[in-house]
Amino acid sequence: MDIFDALLQSHQRQRAICKRFLSGIGEHAERLQAFDELKTEMAAHETAEERAFYVPLIEHDETVDPARHGIAEHHEMDEMVEDLDKAKEGTAEWLEAVGKLVHKVHHHLDEEEQKFFPQARKVLPVQQQQELGVLYQEEHDRLVAKEEQAD
Ligand SMILES: [Fe+2]
Ligand SMILES: [Fe+2]
Repeated sequence: MDIFDALLQSHQRQRAICKRFLSGIGEHAERLQAFDELKTEMAAHETAEERAFYVPLIEHDETVDPARHGIAEHHEMDEMVEDLDKAKEGTAEWLEAVGKLVHKVHHHLDEEEQKFFPQARKVLPVQQQQELGVLYQEEHDRLVAKEEQAD
């Protein structure tokens, strides 16, 4: 699996969890479970993606700006997750924070796939695309396992 397929798989997982998060909005246990899964997946994905995708893209003049932009958005999403953690579940404030986070996640994933992936394909040699896919998957799985152990 190359880096693009590996990232896409994580993106689809996040989209599916977001859907459950929104549809489980009336059920306490269901939405807490979805939020927990989303936090774990997002955190593992962001870190592994920065290491296996954005760092190599920073090396190229053509992709240094998109890489910075992507990392800045990761930071924004982390802050949105923190806001949601602080908001009282079920309140208007909480609902607004859920909407904002889900919207942002979708925007970010779409932008990566539609804008950054084509740019990255041009600068990363095919061999490296494969190697980074392996690196991404190892890092992602290690970080998810670490998070699950901490729970
Ligand atoms: Fe990202
Ligand atoms: Fe991503």
